[in-house]
Amino acid sequence: MNDSATVKECKTMNAMVYDDYGDASVLRNAEVPIPDRLPGQVLIDVRASSVNPIDYRMRRGEMKGLLPGGFPRIPGYDVSGVIADCAADGPFSVGDRVVAFLDSMRGGASADYAVAAVDVTAAIPDSMSYNEAAAIPLAGTTALQSLRDHGEIAEGKRVLINGASGGVGMFAVQIAKSYNCHVDAVASGDNEDFCRSLGADHFYNYETTDFTNSAETWDLIFDAAGKSGYWDVKEVLNDGGRYVSTEPDAKGMLMTLVTWPMSKSGTVMLAKPNAGDLRTLITLHKKGQLKITIDAIYLFSQLSQAHQHVEDGVERGKVVLTAE
Ligand SMILES: NC(=O)c1ccc[n+]([C@@H]2O[C@H](COP(=O)([O-])OP(=O)(O)OC[C@H]3O[C@@H](n4cnc5c(N)ncnc54)[C@H](OP(=O)(O)O)[C@@H]3O)[C@@H](O)[C@H]2O)c1
Repeated sequence: MNDSATVKECKTMNAMVYDDYGDASVLRNAEVPIPDRLPGQVLIDVRASSVNPIDYRMRRGEMKGLLPGGFPRIPGYDVSGVIADCAADGPFSVGDRVVAFLDSMRGGASADYAVAAVDVTAAIPDSMSYNEAAAIPLAGTTALQSLRDHGEIAEGKRVLINGASGGVGMFAVQIAKSYNCHVDAVASGDNEDFCRSLGADHFYNYETTDFTNSAETWDLIFDAAGKSGYWDVKEVLNDGGRYVSTEPDAKGMLMTLVTWPMSKSGTVMLAKPNAGDLRTLITLHKKGQLKITIDAIYLFSQLSQAHQHVEDGVERGKVVLTAE
């Protein structure tokens, strides 16, 4: 989306915005002010982003009232690009290649420029493309924090990932394998080969098999798809086991409160932007333990098509937006 003028000469930028809640057609291109970089922040010349279900859920108005401020809104939380402006005494320099998980609740990724706190921004190696990097922040952080912080993953545990072929699940299977766990994956039958290519030891096709009726049991069940609640999976959770869900609805909040003193406990998680976690995921990628599968690539100007694609269901992996 960028033109050749430098950021210091420009006051405005291109962005994809929406002015009211609605379907994907409410997204439009607009000229808006370049965001001000505050102390502790960097300004990123955005090269790529990716679409997450939260983006279309917010656009549809599902989180009405939770977001500060009004319209227009620039959707998106995942950014990769180049530092365009930063503090002279900070950890980054102008021109550094970075990835960021935007920490503003309002998003802001689908634009020529985005601001991010230094502590949610990480350098990316030359071996990682902007498109690969943009796939990581929200989905990768969700998978890592769900397994490590909420699921207390440890070597040798038996782990089940429900929704293993999607944006979050793709990261979760590979992260769990990096802990040397036995990993069972759940997705539609078409994605069996994909899940096994990620390292899954066993596969459940949710169209034909209900893992909650299985004779198997698990130490950690991560419901990345938000499809099987704690009470559905309790019988196949080992004593001392953990259930983690990505669906932060009222039912899930109540479940978290009720089950925390129980031997089999459950929790709903909310991903928290954090540069350290981005660095952990980048290191796994550098070690060859984290492949990033991209389902489709759209231009930023095609954001409504990209949203529609994610709403209709990705085949596998992530939907990425590129500036080129
Ligand atoms: N709480 C948070 O902080 C947080 C952060 C990120 C995401 N999320 C939420 O997490 C969910 C997943 O996000 P995502 O980016 O991974 O979405 P996604 O890319 O659309 O993936 C969805 C996954 O769910 C699978 N699936 C669909 N129906 C299923 C069923 N009945 N049983 C089991 N699996 C099923 C899909 O498999 P097939 O394609 O093979 O059908 C796919 O693997 C979304 O609801 C999102 O809003 C929450």
